[in-house]
Amino acid sequence: MSSLLISLASLKGGVGKTTSAIHIAGQLARRERGGVAVVDRDRTRSATSWSRGGNLPFFVGTQDAVMRRAVDFSSLVIDSRGGLENDELLEMAEASDFLLLPTNVEYMSLDAMAQTAEALGEMGTKAFAVLFTMAKPGKRLDTARRVLEELGLPVLAATVRQSDAFKDASEQSVLVRDVRGSKLAKNCWLDYESVTDEIFARMEAKA
Ligand SMILES: Nc1ncnc2c1ncn2[C@@H]1O[C@H](COP(=O)(O)OP(=O)(O)OP(=O)(O)O)[C@@H](O)[C@H]1O
Ligand SMILES: [Mg+2]
Repeated sequence: MSSLLISLASLKGGVGKTTSAIHIAGQLARRERGGVAVVDRDRTRSATSWSRGGNLPFFVGTQDAVMRRAVDFSSLVIDSRGGLENDELLEMAEASDFLLLPTNVEYMSLDAMAQTAEALGEMGTKAFAVLFTMAKPGKRLDTARRVLEELGLPVLAATVRQSDAFKDASEQSVLVRDVRGSKLAKNCWLDYESVTDEIFARMEAKA
C-alpha cells in the first residue's frame, strides 16, 4: 500500500501540472527510501513521454500499470488532464493526502478559481493549495495571491519561476536539475524543493 498520495489538478489546461508532478516526484525520490510513481491519468500521456529514455528516478505509468506494481511504491503523484469537472476535482481531493492546484497568473480564470474554492471549501479538513507556476515576481503575482486568498483558497508561499529550462527538461526527458548547459536550472529544481517542503509542512499541520 502506498502511504502518500499527492494529486495535481486544474480546471484549466496548460498550467504546469505535468511539470509539477514530475518534479515533485523527483523531490520525493530524492528524500524517500520507498519507491515513487507518477500515475499518468492524462490521455495525452505527457508524463509518460517525459519518462521515455529512462532518466527519471521514479516510475511513470498509467493507473493500471502502477496498480500492477503497487507493492513497489510508497508514494504516488497523480497527474491529471486539464479541464476537470468540479466533481472530479472533489473526488481527487477526497482520495488524496494533498491536492495541489497549479495556476498561472497570466491565464488564471478567477471564475474557475472561485468555483474551485467553493467546491473545495466543503471538503473541511483535507489539505489542498494553489501553486503559482511560471511565476514572475511583481505586482501581478502579489495581486493574484491576494485575490485567491480572499476567495478562501490557500496559496503556497513557494512559487515556481518561469524558465525555459523546464521546456529543455521535458525535451531532454530529464529533471530540470539535469538539464545540460543551463546554469539557471539548479534554481528551478530548488523551487520544487521549496514547494515539496511546504506541502509536507501543510500536511503535518492538518494531521
Ligand atoms: N515554470 C515554468 N516556466 C516556463 N515554462 C513552463 C513552466 N512550467 C511548465 N512550463 C511549460 O508550459 C507548458 C505547459 O506545462 P505542462 O505541460 O506542465 O502543463 P499541464 O497543466 O500539464 O498541461 P495540460 O493541461 O495540457 O496537461 C509546457 O510547454 C511546459 O514546458
Ligand atoms: Mg499535463
